[in-house]
Amino acid sequence: MIRKNDEYIGVITDMGSEGEGVLKFDNLVVFLPFGLVGEKVRYKILKVSSKFAYGKILEVLTPAENRIRPKCAVFEKCGGCQLQHLRYQNQLKLKEENIEKCFSKIADLKVEVKPAVKSGLEFGYRNKLQLPVGIVNGKTEIGFYAENSHRIIPIDDCPINPDWTKTIISCFKKYILDFNIVGYDEITHSGDLREITVKEIEGNLIITLVVLDKKPKGIDSLIEILSSKLKGEFSLYINYNSKKSNVIYGNDFELVYGKPHYIAEAFGIKYKIGVRSFMQVNNDVCLKLYSTVRDLVDADLHTTVVDAYSGAGLMTALLSVKAKNAYGIEIIEEAVKNANELALINGLSDKIVNYCGKCEDILPNLIKEERAKGSKLCLVLDPPRKGCDLTVIDSIIKSGIEKIVYVSCKPSTLARDIGLLVGSLKCEDGQIRKVKDYTPRYELTCVKPFDMFPQTKHIETVVCLTRK
Ligand SMILES: C[S@@+](CC[C@H](N)C(=O)[O-])C[C@H]1O[C@@H](n2cnc3c(N)ncnc32)[C@H](O)[C@@H]1O
Repeated sequence: MIRKNDEYIGVITDMGSEGEGVLKFDNLVVFLPFGLVGEKVRYKILKVSSKFAYGKILEVLTPAENRIRPKCAVFEKCGGCQLQHLRYQNQLKLKEENIEKCFSKIADLKVEVKPAVKSGLEFGYRNKLQLPVGIVNGKTEIGFYAENSHRIIPIDDCPINPDWTKTIISCFKKYILDFNIVGYDEITHSGDLREITVKEIEGNLIITLVVLDKKPKGIDSLIEILSSKLKGEFSLYINYNSKKSNVIYGNDFELVYGKPHYIAEAFGIKYKIGVRSFMQVNNDVCLKLYSTVRDLVDADLHTTVVDAYSGAGLMTALLSVKAKNAYGIEIIEEAVKNANELALINGLSDKIVNYCGKCEDILPNLIKEERAKGSKLCLVLDPPRKGCDLTVIDSIIKSGIEKIVYVSCKPSTLARDIGLLVGSLKCEDGQIRKVKDYTPRYELTCVKPFDMFPQTKHIETVVCLTRK
């Protein structure tokens, strides 16, 4: 019988949804992070449950052909990347297969997944960075969290982020030393600095220091250090967050240096990014994804587009150009303000209405009203990882909208929501169940992955549904 702490040798036969190697032993499915199919490995069991076991690879005895040397010094320790040891082409294949498996296992749907759209950059592609600051062995350290934990792995650089990452980290290390800044301690809920976040907008950076309730000392010197080392323009915000929670930002932002926001341009549309606006993390893939969404929506001057979960409104504006009109729905007030301004500066104000609030509250009525007017509707959904609320799904089903384009950053919640929309799944008493005999409400005309997050297990997917 398989036992915790015992060591075994086995051959990996499959890959799990989190990018880990999988093998079967003793009637259990054993998950082995950083293992690849075909590899013979020596591993140690860390945890056993009734159906599964979790282990750690101690030695790869026969490496797979597609195994490569990871670029990062803390790969396998830091929780950011899961696939740096796998050749990029194989990462794409793995993600395509994972989407197919999710649809099949979760929603009983056989789908044809198109080849994943590659990222132009396999490394250095991220335009945003989030660095927790804490105490490691009695010393203030900047780093990333280890997988599924709040243990900080100190870093000096990160290869999936651009060159400015190294500069930012070294500037903050100097500042921390010079002013004896104390990192946040979760247990005592104390310290001077909780997180550093950075957003890059066309070479300019918005840097935010998340603190408990006091502005840290030496901010003027920090600005000097950053000014002497950074190439582009930058802004510095302090965010006050005194809550014991995993939510990064509190409500209160104070701009201490630079511009409050920056203007960027894509598809000939100017857009504004502020400290709280949502940004897709990979510019190159974001543009490829938006143009695919635009082609799938295929709006004409009779089409009304509803862009649900619309962020700072770039996609809404892009979709409105060829349409009769467009609506955006977004929960974050600042993003909605930016979206309104975006419409204004691009001369699209008469075509776009941006609602601020929850899709679950706004979408059902909006669809009803547009249906009553007889509008030709196309709905774009781009929810966060948890997917759409059931009220949203219900209102879409009742409305019988002809075309839906769903953009998702999590294949499992995507499969669930598509199953509910198509009819292979239904929700009864709060439980989601598979339906055996059903007449599909929608046909899946496109399932296309976009590799927004190379080296990680994550993938963005665009699905187009047309009414049967
Ligand atoms: C994945 S992002 C997509 C943003 C946008 N479509 C884009 O491409 O930049 C999801 C957005 O949904 C917003 N959001 C989250 N929950 C929401 C809700 N219940 N109702 C409306 N918006 C929500 C988030 O603030 C975020 O801007």
